[in-house]
Amino acid sequence: MIDLRSDTQTKPSAEMRSAMANAEVGDEQKREDPTVNELERRTAELLGQEEAVYVPTATMANEIALRTLGRPGDEVVAEENSHIFLAELGGPAVHAGLMARPLRCEAGRFTPEQLRETVRVTDRSHVPPTRIVSVENTHNSSGGRVWPLDEIEAIAATARELDLRLHLDGARVLNASVACGVSAAEIGGHFDTVTLCLSKGLGCPLGALVAGSAELMAEARRLKHLFGGAMRQAGIVAAAGVYALEHNVERLADDHARARRLAEGLDAAGVPVDLEQVETNFVQVDVGPLGLTPSDALERLWQQGVGLSMTAHPTRLRAVTHLDVDDDDIDGAVELIPRALRTLARA
Ligand SMILES: Cc1ncc(COP(=O)(O)O)c(C=O)c1O
Repeated sequence: MIDLRSDTQTKPSAEMRSAMANAEVGDEQKREDPTVNELERRTAELLGQEEAVYVPTATMANEIALRTLGRPGDEVVAEENSHIFLAELGGPAVHAGLMARPLRCEAGRFTPEQLRETVRVTDRSHVPPTRIVSVENTHNSSGGRVWPLDEIEAIAATARELDLRLHLDGARVLNASVACGVSAAEIGGHFDTVTLCLSKGLGCPLGALVAGSAELMAEARRLKHLFGGAMRQAGIVAAAGVYALEHNVERLADDHARARRLAEGLDAAGVPVDLEQVETNFVQVDVGPLGLTPSDALERLWQQGVGLSMTAHPTRLRAVTHLDVDDDDIDGAVELIPRALRTLARA
């Protein structure tokens, strides 16, 4: 099976497992786990923030971040298909009591003008205050699209002017950093809180971090415990994160190159792919013009030995490259995907 469903499908390598097996550990809740402490230190530096807090998942990192930034009744503004609105079970409402202000926009990116038009200024008696702006980079549901640094700077400047707090769902911010040749600190430094996921392109079995100022991270640590995310000898898994930061960041460029090669191969074989959209490790395939439903197409692809997955779009599927996909897999996918989709189109 050529598994292109998600970059979450990676399995830890032998070297990563060896780093895990040999990790120094201690009681993480008491901040006595040297490996967790080291991972938090490195990540804070990497993301241009003072501190970082290790948590089991990027969902938890996002939810903790939003809760540190807002109070019940506040509004959070984000793109309408952002992960925090689409895929966290209404967590911002449940965990932080936040109202969602979804924005419709191209490629997951909204403009300073859109933000200005959206922000509500509270009258302290009726109007819920707009408090948080959340940016997702790379943007999952639009196909791993990247926010250029100048657009981030413009949003951050507008948010500051409007007295808004800024969260970066940077689950894949290292893909963005590698794709545009800008350090993760230059991107992350503009935000109050930043989420980084370790279990996607970085290839760890689990783990994520939320980063921010020492003051915000003190609250994040309290919330981590409250959410049931404070662990014990977590260095065993944090060691995978330390290993990934050392070995698996620059190589994200390989995933991006393979996604481009896949997209170009599919395009040449007549599969509807928007080449413009391929900026990182996602390729979106539109099965609508082929007269297929996404679930039929997925089934046929699976039978041919290729795993793709659904997107928020009604007719687009996605293929995602990652650590466990090599050049031969791309060659195989370029051959099998057109075969599977054309067979279906003729059926
Ligand atoms: C942009 C983004 N943020 C957060 C998450 C949440 O990650 P997890 O499912 O590991 O909690 C995902 C997962 O796909 C994501 O794509």
